[in-house]
Amino acid sequence: MAITIKSPGEIELMRESCRLLGLVHNELAKVIRPGISTKEIDRVCEELIRSYGCTPNFLHYQGYPASVCVSVNEEVVHGIPREDHIIQEGDIVSLDTGLIYRGYHSDAARTHAVGQISAEAQKLIDVTRQSFFEGIKMARAGNHLHDISNAIAAYVTPYGYGIVRDLVGHGIGTSLHEPPQIPNFALRRRGPKLRPGMTLAIEPMINMGTEDVEWLDDDWTVVSADHSLSAHYENTVLITEGEPEILTL
Ligand code: MF3
Ligand code: CO
Repeated sequence: MAITIKSPGEIELMRESCRLLGLVHNELAKVIRPGISTKEIDRVCEELIRSYGCTPNFLHYQGYPASVCVSVNEEVVHGIPREDHIIQEGDIVSLDTGLIYRGYHSDAARTHAVGQISAEAQKLIDVTRQSFFEGIKMARAGNHLHDISNAIAAYVTPYGYGIVRDLVGHGIGTSLHEPPQIPNFALRRRGPKLRPGMTLAIEPMINMGTEDVEWLDDDWTVVSADHSLSAHYENTVLITEGEPEILTL
């Protein structure tokens, strides 16, 4: 399947889907505190999404049992919310969620600090977020997809962090995952040309230590192989004739 180009009408639906997801993330940021269970975060998230008349797109996706992925500390992505997983002061918590608005999907992730965290942990969060912004400087019509990947990798590599290779960003639209895959590591080929109307979920996942990851026995939760801290930052982005539009901010 080729990379879809959204029509002006579809772009409006993507904009609204993504705007609402931005609101969900802003609300979720306020509920994270020591003592809350990751399951409670999921309940709040699902309620918020449904209160906007939307549907959670992660729920039941390939059997995934929740509306949000809550990945704490060494968990990279796809942490399953649990009643007995309680957020603690000093944790770093990645929230990844998405929704469907009139058939159009949005997807975004942020990593939050809970109370006081170490300077090293904060730097990991900041560099991961900034790597997204470095990447999208290249997200312009006429550039190629891997220019984004290479810009992310060029920014992150000097810090000595591990850029996760086993999971990548993706196109998004009437499905959560559309072509193309969007790696966060350097590639020699430039990949497909970027064109106005493409909508892309760009999502660097960065480990403080090794780039290697493992899957827990729940078959979902991805952790860094050395159990070092991991951060995630993702937005759904529209390629335009000029500056890229970050739709989920
Ligand atoms: N957020 C993931 C992504 O960015 C998708 C998670 S699917 C789920 O592609 F099933 F784990 F929720
Ligand atoms: Co995504």
